[in-house]
Amino acid sequence: MWTTIVLLACFFLVVRIVQALVAKRRLQRSAQQHGCQEPEDVTGPFPYGVRRLRRMLALATSGEDFLDDIIGNDFKNAATVKFTAFDGNTAISTTEPANLQAILATQFKEFVGGDRRYHCFEPAIGHSIFNADGAFWEHSRALFRPQFSRENINDLEMTHKASDSLITAIGSTDANGWTANQEVMPLIYNFTLDTATDFLFGETVGSQQLAIAARTGRMGICSSDGDVQAKEAEAQAFARSFVVVQEYIVRRIRLQSLWWLGDGLEFRKATRTIRKFTDRFVQLAIDTAASPSKGEGKKQSLMNSLATQTQDRKELQDQILSILLAGRDTTASMLGWCLVRLALHPEVFNKLRSIVLENFDPEEPITFAKLKDCRYLQHVLNEVLRLHPTVPLNSRNAAKDTTIPVGGGPDQKSPVVVRKGQVVLFSVYLMHRRKDLWGEDVLDFKPERWQQQIPAWQYLPFLGGPRICLGQQFALTEASYLLVRLLQEFDAMEPVHWAEAQKLKKGLGVTMWPLDGAKVRFHKSTA
Ligand code: HEM
Ligand SMILES: *[C@@H]1O[C@H](CO)[C@@H](O)[C@H](O)[C@H]1NC(C)=O
Repeated sequence: MWTTIVLLACFFLVVRIVQALVAKRRLQRSAQQHGCQEPEDVTGPFPYGVRRLRRMLALATSGEDFLDDIIGNDFKNAATVKFTAFDGNTAISTTEPANLQAILATQFKEFVGGDRRYHCFEPAIGHSIFNADGAFWEHSRALFRPQFSRENINDLEMTHKASDSLITAIGSTDANGWTANQEVMPLIYNFTLDTATDFLFGETVGSQQLAIAARTGRMGICSSDGDVQAKEAEAQAFARSFVVVQEYIVRRIRLQSLWWLGDGLEFRKATRTIRKFTDRFVQLAIDTAASPSKGEGKKQSLMNSLATQTQDRKELQDQILSILLAGRDTTASMLGWCLVRLALHPEVFNKLRSIVLENFDPEEPITFAKLKDCRYLQHVLNEVLRLHPTVPLNSRNAAKDTTIPVGGGPDQKSPVVVRKGQVVLFSVYLMHRRKDLWGEDVLDFKPERWQQQIPAWQYLPFLGGPRICLGQQFALTEASYLLVRLLQEFDAMEPVHWAEAQKLKKGLGVTMWPLDGAKVRFHKSTA
């Protein structure tokens, strides 16, 4: 009996080893055929990854920056490198436009999000557009694309209201026209929550209005005081749980193959809270889909159009939360960096303001077309996302043995072989800061550089190819709108606690945000 088991075990082991060797030979042969060479190896001495881990754990005290110093260090000599992680797996890491074009577009089918990404996000968003591959991803993408049409994005009523609420929340001015010092980031998070929920559910959470009402005792949108209190508490619980959920997702991503350790009661409770919050909207959408007359006169939300395709509650919930996760904090972080930059660069603030005043008559509605036509405004946003792309690091998994076009050999010009299952990391952040691509002034905040044509694949804040961010136009429109409103309202803006010389610290989670916030004061325009 035992001998049989041992013999069988040995047999299977031998089969596995032979299979692995055959696969390796095949890969080597095809690598040779394609003229592949190895990229620089930046692993460092054994035990692998321990030095990096030690530096990562010491970030708080060493003052090093995770992206600039630790990841950036890998690319000192080459734009494409390989390294062996602590679990023995070798990954490829790149900041090369040609490789990104291959991974994201020309060889799209060969590079997937993969199982690990699915698992990291699964408790919160199940199986949905953001963490699916293959046929289900294609299905989801096709389902949503019409919702992101120009026409829908041009419906800016909610953006208008949310901008007004934010300006109200910034507060009143003193005798000299200055507002109090104000940490604007939390107000921006509420702004993007309100516009995103309106877009997704057809009804806003109204967090900013509720907070203002609760503070001032003015009711406005609700019928009674108790109502305001209860609704604010609900919005707050949702927003807080959303933060917790994202913290756990990040923890899972960082744990790599041990992702399942990032779990627990707190996580499960928070996912339950955000899912429960969507229940009412899911039910509403299903009812409307069943008898369309009920929804007459109401705005077509993303949830409603989704409900005409599927009435599966879980799928509706997953997909909606998937998009909220993709769209809310990313847009808020971008706006945060916009304010930081405008406060630090008064010359850009003033130039942008005079262009905005020229192009946007306060008596006329701000439209999608007008925002797009305002070139300097778009250049400012481009430049903010160049220096501060809110998704700075990303990865793909090879779905089969394949190659990427450049990075191998001493001159880095040969293709590099990628094994099936191998991880390819890429950092858009570091690519956006490559001197050889952007010039000596790469670290300067200079919207004017966008007057020149920039090669498409060296600037990828929203990535590119078939999986390019679906919400790109939505996000840029929201941000442009709010900036126009702020510039109409205020004629100056000052940073409160950071200065130019200081290295801008970044918070790193699912997105990258200004860690020290955006504490500023505004000067009210009297014109
Ligand atoms: C500044 C704001 C934003 C940035 C920088 C951003 C960036 C990105 C990036 C880099 C991806 C690709 C992720 C990957 O495949 O690895 C992505 C995907 C996506 N984004 Fe955005 N995003 C922003 C705002 C939004 C908004 C506002 C929405 C929706 C309302 C949105 C919806 C999506 C969706 C649905 C995907 C998944 C697309 C797919 O897998 O086919 N994003 N975004
Ligand atoms: C954001 O909205 C929530 C929910 O209404 C509120 O409790 C919170 O105070 C708001 N944040 C700020 C900074 O106003």
